[in-house]
Amino acid sequence: MNNLLFKCSKICKNFYQGEGVVEVLKDIDFSLEKSSSVAITGPSGSGKTTLLNMLSGLDSPTSGEIIFNKNDIENLNEKEKALMRNKEIGFVYQFHHLLPEFTALENVSLPMLISGIHSEEALEKSNYLLKKVNLNNRTNHKPSELSGGERQRVAVARALSNSPSCLIMDEPTGDLDTYNALNTVETILELSQELKVSLIIATHDVSLSSKMDRIFSL
Ligand SMILES: Nc1ncnc2c1ncn2[C@@H]1O[C@H](COP(=O)(O)OP(=O)(O)OP(=O)(O)O)[C@@H](O)[C@H]1O
Ligand SMILES: [Mg+2]
Repeated sequence: MNNLLFKCSKICKNFYQGEGVVEVLKDIDFSLEKSSSVAITGPSGSGKTTLLNMLSGLDSPTSGEIIFNKNDIENLNEKEKALMRNKEIGFVYQFHHLLPEFTALENVSLPMLISGIHSEEALEKSNYLLKKVNLNNRTNHKPSELSGGERQRVAVARALSNSPSCLIMDEPTGDLDTYNALNTVETILELSQELKVSLIIATHDVSLSSKMDRIFSL
């Protein structure tokens, strides 16, 4: 138990639309050990994104319990949840969600600046992380001046900027061609091992899920 980063018991999630109820997740038990990796798989509509949103505190389960680092997420107020997302959990979306007006370097720095880290230190760490994802020659490019794979690697660097204990990714290679997808996968795996970050990745990509410690099917 002490070595668990997440422990989720009997999670249910319903969406209510008018008179109808959509039961997306039913009695899901899920746990993740520190510094380990898991792929969340399942057909489209099976609830992968829904589960990731609850693990990161963006959404709440209808019932059930989500324990993160021994804390019940539902007992945190919105400010504490925002702090958890800023400090403890790096989130990479399917379509990167980088800020278009900012350069790669600025995008990676932002979570650190928000958490009060001095700008010089934030820039130094951003340069380090962008080098790690092989983008040291693209630091001053804006997202529109980067390829799809490069944007996704900036998003990975940004998600790692505050040294989270967990990196959560929703189809991180879904929008990439095979070459860029493999490249991004290698980068994610190397970095997560080096930085001892746990990985939760929702993916349809077998070349990615097969590299995780475990596969959790919905
Ligand atoms: N806000 C919402 N209101 C009503 N239904 C919703 C809402 N969000 C998601 N759903 C439904 O919940 C189900 C699960 O959605 P989710 O996005 O978690 O699937 P997914 O497994 O991530 O699928 P994909 O592989 O296509 O990304 C879907 O059938 C979807 O229509
Ligand atoms: Mg999804």
